[in-house]
Amino acid sequence: MPTINISEIKSIDKRDLYILLSHYLKVPYYKIITDRITEVDKGFMDMVNERRVGVPVAKIIGSKEFYGLDFITNQYTLDPRPETELMIDCLTQHVNRNEEIAMLDLGCGTGCIGITALTLYKESTCDFVDICEKALATTEANCQAHKAQDRARFIQSDWFDKVPRNKEYDVILCNPPYIRTDYDLDRDTLHDPHLALFGGEDGLACYRKIVPHLRRHCKYIALLEIGYDQGQSVVELVRNSYGGWESVEVRKDYGGHDRLVICKKRQPNTELQPSL
Ligand SMILES: C[S@@+](CC[C@H](N)C(=O)[O-])C[C@H]1O[C@@H](n2cnc3c(N)ncnc32)[C@H](O)[C@@H]1O
Repeated sequence: MPTINISEIKSIDKRDLYILLSHYLKVPYYKIITDRITEVDKGFMDMVNERRVGVPVAKIIGSKEFYGLDFITNQYTLDPRPETELMIDCLTQHVNRNEEIAMLDLGCGTGCIGITALTLYKESTCDFVDICEKALATTEANCQAHKAQDRARFIQSDWFDKVPRNKEYDVILCNPPYIRTDYDLDRDTLHDPHLALFGGEDGLACYRKIVPHLRRHCKYIALLEIGYDQGQSVVELVRNSYGGWESVEVRKDYGGHDRLVICKKRQPNTELQPSL
């Protein structure tokens, strides 16, 4: 097949170009640079052209890295976002890595949050919930890829509807759709499923459905991802839902934006030890 000189491909970002090349040539990313690969066959331009018209790299290659792990992603799942990694940092700051915990990943999509947690908490279990059957199937495939399927359970449910009524989780991890319906999406986000993005007129519709159930199902801590301007509203929803929270706090991400609401049921005691 005719080839093209890589230095002539200027229509897409260089990092995207290297990720696509690494996938196309089936070589590790770093080798693209260290081996000074200069030519590729012209078939590669199909991928470049997809990227040029706005298809995200993750959707072209069918995978996205999250917390150093690769996750299968597709048209039914949100591509894992770097800002969501804060949830994992926060989890490890609040719960000691030696603990055996029962977790719930609510609105799991690729399963990136719960699966990453399972790889860190090796004696622990996670229930994965999503309303979308195909997203849940993707979570299952990712669990298998990361050898976590034996500690995972999959529940297709509208939030807590099919979660057993008396089931308690030490940790609830949830990144619900929270974008306002009238928000102008950027070009890449347009390719994510709308079911994973939109949270009604004010972006808070999913929290209103989820929060009233936290009291019953959360034993120790619930981490909720939020939009940059939703901190106070979600804190109020949580506080108004139940007076027994020990603390409900907003945590900023590394870019300085509100990103998580941390709801703690009680101080860690002899049952669950915090990280030191
Ligand atoms: C923002 S995405 C988060 C995906 C993944 N947890 C992550 O952080 O990358 C929200 C997820 O919630 C799911 N979802 C939307 N509405 C739901 C509902 N009513 N019940 C359960 N899951 C829902 C979507 O299918 C999507 O996978």
